[in-house]
Amino acid sequence: MARKKVTIIGAGATGGAMAQRLIERDICDVVLQDDPQFAGTMHFGKALDESQAAAWEGFSTRITATDGWEDTANSDVVICTAGAPRKPGMTREELLNGNAAIVRAKVSAAAKASPNAVVVIFANPMDAMCHVAKEASGFPRERIIGQGGALDSARYRYFVSDALGVSPADVHGFVIGGHTDTTMVPVVSQTRIGGVPLTDLLPADKIAALVQRAMRGGAEIGELLKTGSAYYAPSAATIAMVESILLDQRRLIPCSVYHQGEYGLKDIFSGTVCQLGAGGIQRTFELPLTDDEKQRVIAAAEATRELVKLITS
Ligand SMILES: NC(=O)c1ccc[n+]([C@@H]2O[C@H](COP(=O)([O-])OP(=O)(O)OC[C@H]3O[C@@H](n4cnc5c(N)ncnc54)[C@H](O)[C@@H]3O)[C@@H](O)[C@H]2O)c1
Repeated sequence: MARKKVTIIGAGATGGAMAQRLIERDICDVVLQDDPQFAGTMHFGKALDESQAAAWEGFSTRITATDGWEDTANSDVVICTAGAPRKPGMTREELLNGNAAIVRAKVSAAAKASPNAVVVIFANPMDAMCHVAKEASGFPRERIIGQGGALDSARYRYFVSDALGVSPADVHGFVIGGHTDTTMVPVVSQTRIGGVPLTDLLPADKIAALVQRAMRGGAEIGELLKTGSAYYAPSAATIAMVESILLDQRRLIPCSVYHQGEYGLKDIFSGTVCQLGAGGIQRTFELPLTDDEKQRVIAAAEATRELVKLITS
């Protein structure tokens, strides 16, 4: 059986970290696509360096780099990380039009080379970039998926686990809505630890503080790193999604999906819980929300709708 193929567009901080996580799982071949004008020969260097880890890590993954598209042909999954990251103090929205042009060009070329691929959009502002990718590729909603909620939920689960002294793996909670500091919606009402509601385990002010910290999770790391933005947790979140798609694991992961009635929303990318497997999004789940959570989910989608209107073609 031919090995599956994943193309990672953009071999920068996040693309490089994703490549390492994916390669060492040994579940597919990996192509690093980048633009010499911005990356120089970095993607070739990263591909060669990681290839030379095989003897000790024990993987058979073939990893190559390319400036073009031929080598990416017939990828099963394409991840688009190319774009400028936030600088300290910068919002994701400020990245809008520069990254829209990059995503449009990259996804359009990738879709031509891999017409059956599932595309995972990562560059920010991510929900708006999913609209650009959908238009550029013409792909159906099952095959354009935004990564935001997987990361935001991981941060939320980490802060809850840290406050309670339990494993993050045993914190069951989702962050849905938008992938920005102000529009993400950690669904506190449905968060369970060992089946026990979070609201029974921590006082409201403590929960509010950790929710706030999760929402500013990316900004906090950017301030600490000084240059660029986070890449360890973002790459872990993305590769969990990609693995579920490649291996048809059917995991339930919050992702940005083109809403078709979920939470009463239509024709807008926003985060909700998705079943990811062969072919991309197999099903979506609507969480039971409090009135306040529902209002915030709707407001998040409306904020993305406004942002999409600002995209110039
Ligand atoms: N969705 C998420 O959860 C999440 C998390 C972290 C970062 N991000 C976003 O991912 C993107 C990449 O972040 P990073 O830290 O890897 O950045 P980086 O600067 O390390 O890498 C950026 C990559 O984009 C390429 N690039 C830059 N400008 C380009 C252009 N004009 N045309 C073509 N290619 C270009 C570069 O060659 C490089 O490979 C940013 O938009 C960042 O905000 C998203």
